[in-house]
Amino acid sequence: MPEFATPPISPFAIQFDAEAATLTPEGPTLTRRMSALDGLFKDHDAWQQAVADGDPVVYSVQSTPVPEVDRELPQSITSIEAGTTAGEFWMTKGHQHPNHQGEIYLALHGTGGLLMFDGTETQWIDMVPGTIGYIPPGWAHRSVNVGADPYKFLAVYPGGAGHDYGWVLEHGMGKRAYAVTDGFELREF
Ligand code: 6PG
Ligand code: NI
Repeated sequence: MPEFATPPISPFAIQFDAEAATLTPEGPTLTRRMSALDGLFKDHDAWQQAVADGDPVVYSVQSTPVPEVDRELPQSITSIEAGTTAGEFWMTKGHQHPNHQGEIYLALHGTGGLLMFDGTETQWIDMVPGTIGYIPPGWAHRSVNVGADPYKFLAVYPGGAGHDYGWVLEHGMGKRAYAVTDGFELREF
């Protein structure tokens, strides 16, 4: 099953290796390079320079074959590389689920943060291995790697929730995470 399965799918086992941060069998893997994060870092010139300087992979998302369709419950593991762009920690694009539904993240490796924004209020959850971050319906969410190693987490979400990336471009995420001497600091968007 190299890609998403076609419903109805039969019950099946997924081998979860928390140490290696893998899910088997594998579904599609999505790789996002710096160029895919247009308009998301505060310093646009620094972002453009990073794209010109080799367009590094910022994160990848490995899914299982469970399809993103209504009533199914897909899972994926996201791995965010360590890095900063003009001091801002590398992160996922972030999105809102247009069909508002909850989601959970389980941190597996590294040191991260789960940034959430409902259009008014911002919330941040420190994510270390073993932390489950709960994303309530209606909260846009972005993951940030605030450490020196890759930050990896498992996500489980309703297949019919959809992904709205335009929402974050329009409304922002409320705060940004910047590197400081002793870790990170959240600053106004
Ligand atoms: C989801 C999850 C999660 C997320 C990835 C990549 O709804 O599917 O929130 O799997 O998609 O961590 O983040 P972006 O989707 O924001 O690029
Ligand atoms: Ni999500």
